[in-house]
Amino acid sequence: MLDQTALRTELANHYDLAPSPELAAAHAEIYGKMERVISPPDWAIFAPYIVAINKLKKQRKAVILAHNYMTPEIFHGVADVVGDSLQLAIEATKVKADVIVQCGVHFMAETSKVLNPSKTVLIPDMEAGCSLAESITAEGIAQMRAQYPGAPVVTYVNTTAEVKAASDICCTSSNAAQIVAAQESDTVIMTPDKYLAQNVARQVPQKRIVWWDGACIVHERFTAQDLNDFRTYNPDTHIIAHPECPPDVVDAADFSGSTSGIIAYVERERPAKAMLVTECSMASNISDSLPDVDFVGPCNMCPYMKKITLEKVLWSLHTMQGAVEVDASVADKARVAVQRMIDLSRQLAC
Ligand code: 13P
Ligand code: SF4
Repeated sequence: MLDQTALRTELANHYDLAPSPELAAAHAEIYGKMERVISPPDWAIFAPYIVAINKLKKQRKAVILAHNYMTPEIFHGVADVVGDSLQLAIEATKVKADVIVQCGVHFMAETSKVLNPSKTVLIPDMEAGCSLAESITAEGIAQMRAQYPGAPVVTYVNTTAEVKAASDICCTSSNAAQIVAAQESDTVIMTPDKYLAQNVARQVPQKRIVWWDGACIVHERFTAQDLNDFRTYNPDTHIIAHPECPPDVVDAADFSGSTSGIIAYVERERPAKAMLVTECSMASNISDSLPDVDFVGPCNMCPYMKKITLEKVLWSLHTMQGAVEVDASVADKARVAVQRMIDLSRQLAC
């Protein structure tokens, strides 16, 4: 992959990408969705890329699926569908377009490919990984099965297709507790996120949950002390944490939910001040639609999600490079685990 400067130079040979106040003004309705967080000069830089991507997307018959952690210019400017991991997996099953561009991390693109084996699934940067996905292999799943014979393996979607293929069923942060509760066995193996597992264990006390020792590098950095200190000086702030945070952090928060659960909470409660204990783009993406909410406090960047830029999205559509491939025998098994999750989620309405 070319670096960002080389990419801009190469793309400028094919598209008019000079900063353009005219294009910026002509697309003011898109800018209106991110005005609070993107300055007018930055918008004039982004607008030509957004126009070029949206035009090329039509020519390529492509659809862009974007995770809630994408930057506002991607989230509001070029995405056709946005959502949390579960919503993106469900949307991937409905895609009619020939090409899917996954603006998110590699495991998300793999999930889309597994669910759409005949379609081209592009990821704008192959290096957009995930510390959780990197923490476990199919051998790790085999080890857990050997240690807890007969226990079902519930695997977080933040994993490779090989790991999903070795598991019984997948889960996401929005359905993990319900999926675990629905297992027949008293003991349930959860991989690879130890904190998600520990948080679920408290919601589902009737099960004995055992876990793999993985963690998200973004959410493990928050501490309960940070949250409590913040609350001391800002007592009216609603503190909302993702369940990939350690349990004491979730305890110190007012609410915990998936990225879409967090958005729904803020839209419903409309707190005067909200602290989102998660990735930084979450607050940026909803800031303009919730002008009465002041987003305060620290957030952490996901270095993997931030590898996806407008330049790389345009480059992937231009070159059609970055196609994700999954071996057919692995994809067939992984599809069973993902589809079981989607079906059970529908059945349980979670
Ligand atoms: P969600 O399923 O809540 O969107 O989480 C995905 C993720 O990677 C969070 O770190
Ligand atoms: Fe993975 Fe954490 Fe980044 Fe989500 S935020 S993609 S779990 S490293």
